[in-house]
Amino acid sequence: MRRSTTRAQPRILLRFNGPGRTLALTAAGVAAGALLVSCAALEGTPLFTDLRTIEPIHGSASAGAQKSTVCASCHGADGVPVAPIFPRLAGQRADYLYHRLASFHHADPKDPYYSASPMTALAAGLSDEDMRDLATYFASQPPHALEPPPPSASASMDHGERLYAQGDPEHGIPPCQGCHGADAKGPPLSATYLAAYPALRGQNAPYLSARLTNYRNAKPADTSNTRIMHGVAETLDDGAIQDISAWLSSLSPTPSP
Ligand code: HEC
Ligand code: HEC
Repeated sequence: MRRSTTRAQPRILLRFNGPGRTLALTAAGVAAGALLVSCAALEGTPLFTDLRTIEPIHGSASAGAQKSTVCASCHGADGVPVAPIFPRLAGQRADYLYHRLASFHHADPKDPYYSASPMTALAAGLSDEDMRDLATYFASQPPHALEPPPPSASASMDHGERLYAQGDPEHGIPPCQGCHGADAKGPPLSATYLAAYPALRGQNAPYLSARLTNYRNAKPADTSNTRIMHGVAETLDDGAIQDISAWLSSLSPTPSP
């Protein structure tokens, strides 16, 4: 299985300290596993996927090209979008694209983030093979830039670059490059799970700002990777989001390693 998605375990189980009691509850939990899952679904417990144990995905770029016609109206036929509110998919890492599609596909339609995204309905009908093919296709496309938007007069590029490279210890902001790579192409692939860490270089500023603001509001929350970004984004104020997004979008996009 390429991606194992589970319903989040109710946290209350962890709060019982006596070993005997924990064991009893765990055993009961196993026996009642199916019931728990269905109750969780009824209660709207969010889906949660641990992306630390993923395997590299494989797909067919040519099959993906054929399946991508429905994506073109927003993301462009070659993954360079029609407007900067949409993310550029061309040249993004295939594993990252695949897991994003899988999250939209598995999403709880009542989730505050997924219910607001046009992607949720679009991904609902995709098979696992479709998602692998589409991710492989878009990742293989040359990521030429959109016509860059005029830089926002109030954005400070220097500040954005400094935050990206060094963070800001006083405000608890970590250096983004530690996880997104020194040149924002994504981190070196020293472990398989890092393939699902995205490149940010040359991504569109309005999209980046919207996504960082969402992370700051803990949206979405369905994978281990999204939760990493909640911790990062809660250190960013609106000015920091604007400056980092403007600086990243000014870099020419290159294919991710
Ligand atoms: C109606 C416009 C629209 C169409 C059509 C569309 N998308 Fe999207 N897509 C979006 C928007 C808007 C976002 C940003 C969602 C967000 O951040 O919540 C997005 C995000 C994505 C992302 C996440 C990118 C990232 O950097 O995290 C992927 C992957 C994606 N779309 C793939 C596809 C594929 C594949 C198709 C075709 C099957 C498709 N999209 C069709 C609007 C669209
Ligand atoms: C500890 C590792 C880590 C650090 C530090 C980090 N990120 Fe991330 N970032 C991630 C991961 C993992 C994801 C993928 C989350 C997901 O799948 O939604 C991500 C996703 C993103 C995205 C979404 C990209 C897209 O195409 O939708 C943006 C934007 C982003 N990070 C910006 C930043 C900025 C800006 C900083 C520095 C202030 C930063 N990140 C620091 C790990 C990190």
